[in-house]
Amino acid sequence: MKIDIVTGDITTRPVDAIVNAANSSLLGGGGVDGAIHLAAGPELLEACQELRRRDYRDGLPVGHAVATPGFRLPARWVIHTVGPNWHAGQRDPDLLRSAFFESLILADSLGAASVAFPAISAGIYGWDPRVVARTAVDAVREADTQKVELVEFVLFSEDMADVFVAAA
Ligand code: APR
Repeated sequence: MKIDIVTGDITTRPVDAIVNAANSSLLGGGGVDGAIHLAAGPELLEACQELRRRDYRDGLPVGHAVATPGFRLPARWVIHTVGPNWHAGQRDPDLLRSAFFESLILADSLGAASVAFPAISAGIYGWDPRVVARTAVDAVREADTQKVELVEFVLFSEDMADVFVAAA
């Protein structure tokens, strides 16, 4: 499996699946979550509302992942995961590892050959970007995938990309 570090907007990536740093409500938010909902169109919110009604009445737990179509995105699927919120006292690195690992395993099970990740929990949720980068790279390398050939880390700033390059 190849790992690429890319600077840019994850919503434009021509990959099979992009990962959304969502919150437990699955009903959208700011940051990359807001950008993904805006680019995918209102059908994405409808699909998330349906998931809430059907499978996640109490919300998606931290470290879990669930898939929807990508609708108007270039990506076929969006994998929604919830990273731990440092500011809320969620400071167990296993939860962060799980968000990356479970997202990749789910994308692989859908048959995705390429998957793009943002820096989950490194924005509003307040984790140290260096911890996020190291945890992300280790989690992806540990995964025993069948279909995924390319993992991209798509970072919004050059500074964040430099942190991921140092960890890769
Ligand atoms: N493409 C790639 N990366 C992006 C984009 C984008 N379009 N927009 C923002 N980012 C970056 C941020 O700069 C940050 O480095 O994604 C990283 C993760 O930041 P957040 O989106 O704040 O995610 P997180 O820290 O996991 O917080 C999740 O924020 O949006 C809400 O609903 C979400 O409540 C949840 C919380």
